[in-house]
Amino acid sequence: MSADLKRAAAARAVDLVQDGMRLGIGTGSTAAQFVELLGARVRSGLSVVGVPTSEATHRAAAAAGIPLTTLDETPELDLTVDGADEIDGSLRLIKGGGGALLREKIVAAASRRMVVIADGSKQVATLGRFPLPIEVVPFGLGATRRAIAAALTRTGCAGELTLRTGRDFAPFRTDGAHLILDAHLGRIPDPDALAAALAAVPGVVEHGLFLGLCTGAILAAEEAGAIRLL
Ligand code: A5P
Repeated sequence: MSADLKRAAAARAVDLVQDGMRLGIGTGSTAAQFVELLGARVRSGLSVVGVPTSEATHRAAAAAGIPLTTLDETPELDLTVDGADEIDGSLRLIKGGGGALLREKIVAAASRRMVVIADGSKQVATLGRFPLPIEVVPFGLGATRRAIAAALTRTGCAGELTLRTGRDFAPFRTDGAHLILDAHLGRIPDPDALAAALAAVPGVVEHGLFLGLCTGAILAAEEAGAIRLL
């Protein structure tokens, strides 16, 4: 059912796409459904250009026949469609479960609108149950980690920081060759304060709190055996 929910949300997002739009194209399993459905529309004559938010999305979008561009050629986008790991009632997000948070945030910030597509399980009252990804440069990891831990404490957060590893148990590398520390916080009492504190830590490239970027959400939930869009 989860895949059906993702596809239903993605299908509604494709309806928002108009001829001539410059799109940001998200990363993850829900965004992958969007890529597939958008590709079908393009093959039927829709004219758009897209900026992918990861190498994986680049490959999928190219395979689906979606014309691609870059933020150097096309620095302003009309609409970004992306998934999320958590979304609260104020459209604040945690993203980066797939490790693409840096490019995702750059692309979202370059877009007039950012619409999140997700299944309803991503909706939360308070952000933080999903571990917050923090992208860091490899140099000085130990010191950066200590500074992040202090920033967490100062902003009322408590929890463990773990270095993300890949399937081979080696440290996970992002598309920018950085590392990710996942902060297992449970709840984030003040996301604005935490975002500011993390941004001030040397060695932190970006974090997965997306505040003031998302302009709308399409969430799909199952109700009485049917899919309902929220
Ligand atoms: C990628 O880094 C993430 O931000 C994804 O957009 C997020 O993890 C949602 O992914 P799913 O759609 O696979 O749940």
